[in-house]
Amino acid sequence: MSRRILVIAAAFATAVAATAVMAQAEVVKQREALMKDLGNATKPVGGMLRGSVPFDLATVQAALDTYAKNAKALPVLFPAGSGEGSDALPTIWERKAEFDGLFVKLAADASAARAAITDEASFKANFPGVIRTCGTCHDSFRKKS
Ligand code: HEC
Repeated sequence: MSRRILVIAAAFATAVAATAVMAQAEVVKQREALMKDLGNATKPVGGMLRGSVPFDLATVQAALDTYAKNAKALPVLFPAGSGEGSDALPTIWERKAEFDGLFVKLAADASAARAAITDEASFKANFPGVIRTCGTCHDSFRKKS
């Protein structure tokens, strides 16, 4: 190979590597944004569970819709090797089926609760079980800050 071709090849390899790093930063940003949505949707509902915020069915339904939607979008945003620069633990890729299963459970529980919750009493009976999965997953798969 001529020197010129070698230089071009090296520049190309650098560009590909840079693109991979950027793609990885992008995927981390996307999944953290979806997780942040889950947190923001949960905040007012947590207040309702504690009784510090009045019960509001529409807000509860909106939270459950966000859980179902984001839980379906999240699994593909954890490609192998994308842990660096994030709070995702390596256990995710050692136990990916279990990890993905928790997203499936969250989406299914959210849809079931969406149908079951019609008033404050059914809210208090059905909502806590849905958000238990957040903690279950964070305990095993997310870095403690
Ligand atoms: C299947 C696993 C799993 C489930 C279920 C899950 N999370 Fe997460 N969550 C994670 C992981 C892993 C991270 C770290 C992601 C990263 O830093 O790339 C995270 C990060 C977060 C963050 C921080 C986002 C940021 O700003 O960096 C919030 C807030 C959050 N989750 C809220 C929730 C809530 C609320 C629920 C339930 C409604 C939930 N999560 C369900 C795995 C999960």
